[in-house]
Parts: sequence; structure tokens; C-alpha cells
Amino acid sequence: MATGPHGSQPDAALVVEHLTKRFGERTAYEDVSFEVGYGEVFGFLGPNGAGKTTMVRTLGTLLAPTSGSARIAGIPLAFETGAAIRGRISIMPESPGLYLRLTVEENLECFAGLYELRDVRERVATALRAVNLTDRARDPCGSLSKGLRQRVALARALLNDPAVLFLDEPTSGLDPVAARDVHALIGGLRDRGVTIFLTTHRLEEAERLCHRVAILNTTLLLIGRPDELRERLFTQALDVRTRTPLPDPGGVFAGLAGVSGWEQPTPGSYVLHVADPDAAAPAVARALVGAGADILSIVESVHSLEDVYLQLVAEDAEAQR
Ligand SMILES: Nc1ncnc2c1ncn2[C@@H]1O[C@H](COP(=O)(O)OP(=O)(O)O)[C@@H](O)[C@H]1O
Ligand SMILES: [Mg+2]
Repeated sequence: MATGPHGSQPDAALVVEHLTKRFGERTAYEDVSFEVGYGEVFGFLGPNGAGKTTMVRTLGTLLAPTSGSARIAGIPLAFETGAAIRGRISIMPESPGLYLRLTVEENLECFAGLYELRDVRERVATALRAVNLTDRARDPCGSLSKGLRQRVALARALLNDPAVLFLDEPTSGLDPVAARDVHALIGGLRDRGVTIFLTTHRLEEAERLCHRVAILNTTLLLIGRPDELRERLFTQALDVRTRTPLPDPGGVFAGLAGVSGWEQPTPGSYVLHVADPDAAAPAVARALVGAGADILSIVESVHSLEDVYLQLVAEDAEAQR
């Protein structure tokens, strides 16, 4: 594929290069570079204060960066291009900001008017269908639960059929059921090919919804597919459990083909470092049976994105000391 002037894809939805934002002495984020392709759900993951919202506000043209450059839906970020960019994107902010006395439909019509959209009725109806709220159209927003309000905010963000949809912590403060509903809606948008930039501090959310994630803590620590990040940070392992602790685990595991090392986190449970879990497991089982052990389980150890994240943020804190 052809590349742009800086080696980037010319048709990327977002291109961010060495972007930095400072508020006086305080740095919100520093020297951040990444690209997001069209149709991609990109997770921007980091603890509170990592700079996520500031990045959304910058790319949404609400704040000017201190240095660096960006292209949003093909348009270079600059003061003069702000209106053009705003017409191609939309942002669902952390708090929905709806008129609580107006009905769902009136809220959406009002915002469609502000965005100077045409075919308001049709767009409102389409957006309501997209978030399964058609039957609540006449309800005042003030009467809706937090989860439903969040869905109205999502409908509002869909009104202009954005090339890039920014979702800033879309499930923060929602109960698990409401959060699951919002996840399902985002999954539906992903399946329809909507480009989504999603900030979150919830790991399972990023893991479930995002094609790729970036882990941010003022600077960008790591970027990749969730499974890639796990592989990059953790060696492969088998978790072995026996009914009673092995009298001589070293005698069983040391020198076993495919096993490069082992640990015993608690008696009767063992972590074996292996290059290929599938290839090593049968030999491990045979060795255990040969040693007279009662095997409870031999499973490939699975690291969650949370393991990746905690490891990285801990390393980052260590590095800053
Ligand atoms: N308008 C502002 N003025 C001064 N500092 C700000 C402003 N907005 C954000 N910050 C600071 O920038 C840092 C990043 O904030 P933010 O982007 O809101 O983080 P996150 O969304 O990841 O929790 C924080 O230290 C915050 O206090
Ligand atoms: Mg935030």
C-alpha cells in the first residue's frame, strides 16, 4: 500500500505524530504517535490522569496541541480546519450533557439543528434505532436511567454519521448490566465498520471491544493487538496442579523436553516455562504420571490484558523513580 509523506497510510482515519499537550507546567501527554485505520476500534487505555480525555479534546479540535501534528479523517489539525474536522467526527464525552426537561427526540432534534444537519427526522429516527431507543423517544431525558442517558448520548454522536467516533469512557459509572448493553451497541457499530477511538481505564472493555489498544501514561507505553501485547510481555507457560505437592518437583520437571524452567507459586501448583504449550503438555503429563502424581489440571496459562497493563504501569512507575 502507498504511504504518505511520513510513512503513514494516506487513508488512515487518525494519524498522530509526536503530539504533546501541556497546561502550563503540567504535561497532559507527551510525544504521542499512533495511527488508526478506517473501520478500526482503537482503545486508548490508561489510569486516571493519563491524558486520555485531553487527547480526545485535542483530536476533536476543542484544545490546540502544544506541539506535534495530527490528521483526522484526512484533514490536518489546525485552527483553520477545525470546523471541517468537527463536521467529520463526533465525540461522546464522559458526561452525556443532555437537556433533561426535553424528550429524547427533542434532544436529538436540537443537536441535529446545532450541527446544521439536513433530513433531521430521518437522522434522529436512524440514530434512535441504532441504540434501541425508538420506544423511549417521547420520554423526557430526566426520567431515564444513567445507562439509557448514555445511550441517548451515543445516538447524538451518531447523528452526523461520523467518519471517526470518539467515545470517552463510555461505560464509566454504569452498573454491569447497563455497561454490557453499551458494549453490545459498540460491538454492533464495530461490526458495521464504524471507526471508533475509545478511551477507557477498564481492561476487559478494551480487550472485548478493541482491535488494537494503546497504553498511555502521559507517554505512550505500548501499542498492539491485545493478544500481541500479552505475548510480547509474558513468556508462554503451563499451569500444573496436582492433588498433593510433588515430593521432588525438580526431579520431574528439570530436563523435560520443551520445558525451560519452572516455579512453584504454592505447594501443589507449578508454572512451567515452555516455548510451545501444546507440544510440551503431553510430555509433562507422562512425567507426572511416571512420578506417581495425581494430576488435577494442566492448562496453558492465560494472561489477561489486565496482567499486561499492571506489569507496564508498574514498570513505568519504577522507571520514573
Ligand atoms: N484544562 C486543564 N487545565 C489544566 N490541567 C488539565 C486540564 N485538563 C486536564 N489537565 C491535566 O492533564 C492531565 C491529564 O488529564 P486527562 O486528560 O483528563 O486524563 P484522563 O482522561 O486520562 O483521566 C491531568 O493531570 C489533568 O489534571
Ligand atoms: Mg478522562
